[in-house]
Amino acid sequence: MRDVRGPADDAGGGAWNVLLTGASSGLGLAIARQLLGDPRYRLVLTARAASLARFAAAGIVEGERVLLRQLDVTDAEQRRAVVAEIDERFGGVDVLINNAGVAFRSVLEHVNEQERLQQMQVNFLGPMHLMRLCLPGMRARRRGRIVNVSSVAGMMAMPTMAIYSASKWALEGATEALWYEVRPWGIHVTLVEPGFIHSESFRNTVWSREGERAAHEHDDGYRAHYDCMAPFVERLMRRARATPDRIARRIAALLRERRPPLRLPATRDAWLFYLLRRLLPRRLYHLVLWRGLPDTRRWGPGR
Ligand SMILES: NC(=O)c1ccc[n+]([C@@H]2O[C@H](COP(=O)([O-])OP(=O)(O)OC[C@H]3O[C@@H](n4cnc5c(N)ncnc54)[C@H](OP(=O)(O)O)[C@@H]3O)[C@@H](O)[C@H]2O)c1
Repeated sequence: MRDVRGPADDAGGGAWNVLLTGASSGLGLAIARQLLGDPRYRLVLTARAASLARFAAAGIVEGERVLLRQLDVTDAEQRRAVVAEIDERFGGVDVLINNAGVAFRSVLEHVNEQERLQQMQVNFLGPMHLMRLCLPGMRARRRGRIVNVSSVAGMMAMPTMAIYSASKWALEGATEALWYEVRPWGIHVTLVEPGFIHSESFRNTVWSREGERAAHEHDDGYRAHYDCMAPFVERLMRRARATPDRIARRIAALLRERRPPLRLPATRDAWLFYLLRRLLPRRLYHLVLWRGLPDTRRWGPGR
């Protein structure tokens, strides 16, 4: 039986203050909806300025237990302001959920310096800064939870998603180190690793400038990579049984666990890749994955 108790038990009966990023759509919105129903939490739901109106459209309004705030995780001033407000009004962030994320589609050769930085800023550097802002308070109170939404791409890399994988691997490495570092204060850190989610978020995948050009250029050596991978990923997402709601329920359950795990592969395919990665010899593992990729005979210079 899993060791379960509510966070309110840790808090001595008081509500836990949750800061959630990227809360206006997809998985973030599903997590917000899950936690809204639980009186143990006081929620600070954040989104970029242009996305704030989506809360009203989703029927979420401010109230005694809910604040809606603007937060672009790449903006230092906005990060500082939202954490400072939670410190002043509620006594600090108890649960930080770094959910906001973006995925660039590009082979490594086609992603430029600015795009690389943008990818790392949203998925890695933003969460790093937020953790650094929240941790001193968590350590002072000797309690806290950090949930970093990674991805199956944080344990396996896919062609045309090199920089997305790099950002999630960076998040995984830093979070793993943090797990050891803050254990003495009773702070729990978890990486949630969803596989493919049945959602519309593949529409939000950002093409790198050069990648988009290459995908439309008949003679480009990488054209078949894009031709095959983009519909392949889209198909896997459409067929996926995992929904944002289902993963949000897993995350809500995770917050109730007394000893949450460092890693939570959050979908069946994520478990499968986790096991393959652990059990197969590396060379075999990469060959198995290569064989599973679509139409690789068309890739590259031709035979
Ligand atoms: N979808 C999947 O199959 C999948 C699989 C594995 C892991 N994940 C991870 O799950 C998390 C949620 O993704 P999702 O599937 O829910 O995708 P999504 O629907 O595209 O949601 C991403 C969220 O991140 C926000 N965001 C993007 N850039 C931001 C920034 N600079 N500052 C603040 N917020 C920003 C977006 O806000 P805007 O609406 O303003 O753009 C949006 O709310 C991400 O970390 C993603 O990497 C997703």
